[in-house]
Amino acid sequence: MLTTAPASSAQAAYERIPVAVYNKSTAASRAVAEEIAHLIREKRNQGKFCVLGLATGSTPTRIYGELVRMHKEEGLSFQNVITFNLDEYYPMNPASLQSYVRFMKEYLFDHIDIPAHQVHIPDGSLDRDQVQAFCKAYEEKIEAAGGLDLQILGIGRTGHIGFNEPGSSIHSPTRLITLDHITRMDAASDFFGEEHVPRRAITMGVGTIMKARRILLMAWGEGKSNIIRRTVEGDISELVPATFLQNHPNVTFVLDEAAAAQLTRLREPWLVGDCEWTPFLIRKAVTSLCEKVKKPILKLTDRDYNDNGLSDLVTLHGPSYDINIRIFNEMQRTITGWPGGKPGADDTNRPERREPARKRVILFSPHPDDDVISMGGTFIRLHEQGHEVHVAYQTSGNIAVFDDDVMAYADFVADYHQGFEFGGSQTRELFDRVGEHIRNKKPGQVDSREVQIIKGLIRRSEAKAACRYVGIPMDRVHFLDMPFYETGLVRKKPIGPEDVAIIRDLLEEVKPHQVFAAGDLSDPHGTHRVCLQAIYQAVDTLKDAPWMNDCWIWLYRGAWHEWELENIEMAVPISPEELLKKRRAIFKHQSQKDRPLFPGTDEREFWQRAEDRNRATAESYNRLGLAEYEAMEAFKRYIPPFQA
Ligand code: F6R
Repeated sequence: MLTTAPASSAQAAYERIPVAVYNKSTAASRAVAEEIAHLIREKRNQGKFCVLGLATGSTPTRIYGELVRMHKEEGLSFQNVITFNLDEYYPMNPASLQSYVRFMKEYLFDHIDIPAHQVHIPDGSLDRDQVQAFCKAYEEKIEAAGGLDLQILGIGRTGHIGFNEPGSSIHSPTRLITLDHITRMDAASDFFGEEHVPRRAITMGVGTIMKARRILLMAWGEGKSNIIRRTVEGDISELVPATFLQNHPNVTFVLDEAAAAQLTRLREPWLVGDCEWTPFLIRKAVTSLCEKVKKPILKLTDRDYNDNGLSDLVTLHGPSYDINIRIFNEMQRTITGWPGGKPGADDTNRPERREPARKRVILFSPHPDDDVISMGGTFIRLHEQGHEVHVAYQTSGNIAVFDDDVMAYADFVADYHQGFEFGGSQTRELFDRVGEHIRNKKPGQVDSREVQIIKGLIRRSEAKAACRYVGIPMDRVHFLDMPFYETGLVRKKPIGPEDVAIIRDLLEEVKPHQVFAAGDLSDPHGTHRVCLQAIYQAVDTLKDAPWMNDCWIWLYRGAWHEWELENIEMAVPISPEELLKKRRAIFKHQSQKDRPLFPGTDEREFWQRAEDRNRATAESYNRLGLAEYEAMEAFKRYIPPFQA
C-alpha cells in the first residue's frame, strides 16, 4: 500500500485526511499505479477478482499509462479485474469524442487484457425513463461483485468527487445529476465551447464511493490547491462533497507539490514544526508575514514575528531588524529595468549579467500570444535596449479560433485574388469547401485539416503583426508548429523526439545568451507544461555545447498566475506608457479578443488579466515598502542540473 509519512501532531492539527505529497505528478502517478498493481496481484494470488472504481479526466491519465506499461513490460494481467467507472455525461453517445467510454478505451482498456464483460461504465445513451433503473442495477452490480476494493478519484474545483456536485448528500446513490456551472466551464475546452457541454451526468453517489474499502484521491497542479486545502483542512460540508472523505477509514490524498501548496504544511511550514531556514524559506516567511500583518518589511518587529509562529526564525537569524534589512535588500535587488543586463554597471547584485552588452535572446511562446500577454513589457524593453530578440511560437494555437473568423478570412482571400485578378478560382473553391465543412460540423467534431491550417495561419498573421508592432524583424520570428499539438483536439499527443529536435535546432542556430520560457510547471491540462518539457529536454541534449554554459533560462508565468513573491528573481517595472504599448501588442491578437474560444473561468479579456496581474505585482512590491511602480513583470531563473 502507498505509504504516507505519518503526519506530525502539529500537521495533524490542521490535516483531517492522510496526505502523501510528491515532488511531481509523474512520481505520484507511478506510486498509485503500483498500489493498484499490487492489489490486482494480491487478489489474483488469492484466486479472487479485484474490483476497481475508475475515474476519467486529466488526473488519472498517467496512472493508466503506467498500468498499460506494466501490462506490456511486466506482464501485469487484468483478467481478474472488474471495473466500475464513476460517471458519464448525459446524454452521451459512447462513440463521441468526449464520451468517457471512449476515454477509457483510449487510455486503458484497448491496451490491456481485461475481458469486455468485466468493464462497467454508466450508459449515457439511455432514454431518460431507463436511467433510474440503470442506476439501481449499477449499484447492485457493484454489490454483486463484492463491493469496490479500491476507488480512485480526481477532484473538481467545486469539490465534486465523481460528478457529485455541491449539495450532494453523504448517502447519495448512483443517479442522474445536474452539473455545476464551474464544472461545465472546466469541460468547455473538451467540447469546443461551454454551450456544447451536457447539462447532466450519471454518477456514482457519495454513498457508493464511501463504501469502497480503499480510496485514493489524486490532484495535480496549482489549480486544485485551494479546493485541496478546503477539503483537507476545512469542516465537513455538503457544499464541498469531497470533505465527506474525512469520515472514510482508509483514504489517502495523493498530491503533487503544486496541488498541496496551500496546505499549512507547505504554505506556512513554520506553524507545523521545525523547519530548515533556507534563504528561500526565510524570504517566504517574511513576505507572507508582511501580507498577514499588513506592514512593509522594514516595519516588522520581533513581536510580529513571535505572534505569528516565527519566533524560531528570530532566535536563529534575528533580531528582526537584521532579517528585515536582509530581505528588503534581496527583494530590492530583484528589480531591474534592464532585463538583458545593464551595460557598464556593476552587476554583482543584479539579476542579469552586463556582458555581453548585446545579447541574443529567444523568447519561447507556447501559444501565439503568450509572449505579449505574459511578458510584453519585458519583450519591448529587450528589443529597445538593443538585444537580438528572437521569438519562437511553439504551437500553432489553431484550435482556439472561431469558425466564423475562418469564413471571414477565407472570403477575404478569395475576394483579394479575384479583385487583383490573380486567377482566384482555387481560393474561391477553398472558401466554398471550408464553408460547407463548417456548416455541417457537429458540436465537438474535429476540424478538417484545411480548416485547421487556416486557423493556424490566422494566429500566425496576428503574431507577426504583434512582432512588427514591437519592431522585431521577420527573420527573427520562428513558427515551430510543434507536432504534439496538431491533433485538432484539446487533448494533445505526448511530446516526442521530433518536438524536442525542433527546439534544439533553433537553440543551436541562435546560440542564445538568454532564453525566456513559460514556466507553468504543473498545469495538468497544459500545453505550456509540455512546451516547457520540450525546452528542458532540448537544453539537456545541448549540455556539452560550450555556449550553453552562458545561456541563462528565465521562466515567466503564463495566463493569469504570477510567481509568488518568494520565487521572484527578476522583476521588470513597466511604466504607464509601456503598459499601454503592451496592451496594443496584445490587441494584435484579434481572434482572441472580446470573447476568446477558450476563456476559462475568467470573464476578463486577456489584456485585462495581464494588466491586473502586472499591477498586482507592482502593488505587492509597494506593500513590502519598495518603490511604487505602475506595473511589473516577474521571472524566476531555471538552472539546469548541468549548470548548477
Ligand atoms: C471523472 C470525475 C471527476 C474528475 C474531476 C477532476 O470521472 O468523476 O470527478 O475526477 O472533475 O477532473 P480532472 O482530472 O480533469 O481535473
